[in-house]
Amino acid sequence: MNSVKFTEDAHGMRVLKISNNSADALVYLHGGHVASFKPKGSADLLWMSKMSMFENGKPIRGGIPICWPWFGAPDKAALPNARTSHGLIRLVDWDIEEVSACGSSTQVVLSVSDSPETITIWPFKFKLSLSVTVSDALSLLLTTENTGSVPFTVTQAMHTYFDVGDIARTTVSGFDGVPFIDTVPGTKKPHQIQSGDIAFTEETDRIYTGFSGDAVINDTANRRKIKIHKENSSTSVVWNPWINKSAAMPDFGDDEYKGMLCVETCNIQEDCRNVAPGGKTSLGTIISVEHE
Ligand code: BG6
Repeated sequence: MNSVKFTEDAHGMRVLKISNNSADALVYLHGGHVASFKPKGSADLLWMSKMSMFENGKPIRGGIPICWPWFGAPDKAALPNARTSHGLIRLVDWDIEEVSACGSSTQVVLSVSDSPETITIWPFKFKLSLSVTVSDALSLLLTTENTGSVPFTVTQAMHTYFDVGDIARTTVSGFDGVPFIDTVPGTKKPHQIQSGDIAFTEETDRIYTGFSGDAVINDTANRRKIKIHKENSSTSVVWNPWINKSAAMPDFGDDEYKGMLCVETCNIQEDCRNVAPGGKTSLGTIISVEHE
C-alpha cells in the first residue's frame, strides 16, 4: 500500500494524505506545512494545537511551519513592509511539484516562487522547494534558489512542534556543552553553556549555536525517544511557551504547553545563508522514533 490522496480538511484547506506501509502523514499546501507524521505502531510525533487557525494569511499552529526568508521578527529598517514574524512563506499556498512512491516510501515535492505580493515585502526573486519523504523516518529538505540577478541572505527554520506525553517528564539530549542564547524576555544571563540534558520547568526560548549534531527528545511519559538529525544547520531553537505566553497566544490553548515542545532545525544569526544569483542552499532534517 502506498497512496497519496489530494483532498480538503474540515476547514476547506487543501491537504495531501500520505499512507504507506511505514507511516501516515498529512501535508498542507498552505505554508508547505507537514501537520502529522505517524510511523506505523506509533502515535503522532508532531503536535497540533486544538486552537490552530486554518485560514489564508494565518499560520498553522503546530506541525512543521517553514520559517523563511527570515526567522523571528522582521528587520523593519531593511524590510519596511514586513509585518509578520517568521517570514512570509508559512502564510501562502504552495504548489505540488512532484509525487512519487517507491516500496514503502513516498515523496512529495512542494514549491513556491516569488509573486508581486512577496516582492513588495521581500524584494527578491526566488524558488523555494520542500521535499517531504515519508517512510520509517520523516525527511525534509528545504531548498532555496536565487532566480534573480542580485544576491540575497536568508534565515530559515523548520519550526518543528513535537508531541510529548508530559513536558515535566521530558528532556532533550545532545546539547551538553553547547553555547546558547536565552531569548526569554528579561533574562539575566542571555549567554550560557548547556550542562547535561535540557529539562523544562519554566518558559524556555533558546538559540543553540555552533551545533550540527543529533538531538534526542526523551519523551518519558510516552516511553519513546524522538531523534532529530540535521543537515546543513548549526543552529537549533528549543522552545516551550509555558504558562503566561501560552495564555497570551490566541491560537494556543492555555494548558497545551504541557504536551508539546519545539526543537527547531535552523539557519539563523551567524548561521544565515547568502545565496548568489543562480545559486542554491538547502536545509534538511530527518525525524525518527524508537519505542522503549
Ligand atoms: C519560536 C521563537 O521559534 O517561535 C519564540 O523562539 C516564538 O520566541 C515562537 O514565540 C512562536 O512564534 P509564532 O510567530 O509562531 O507565534
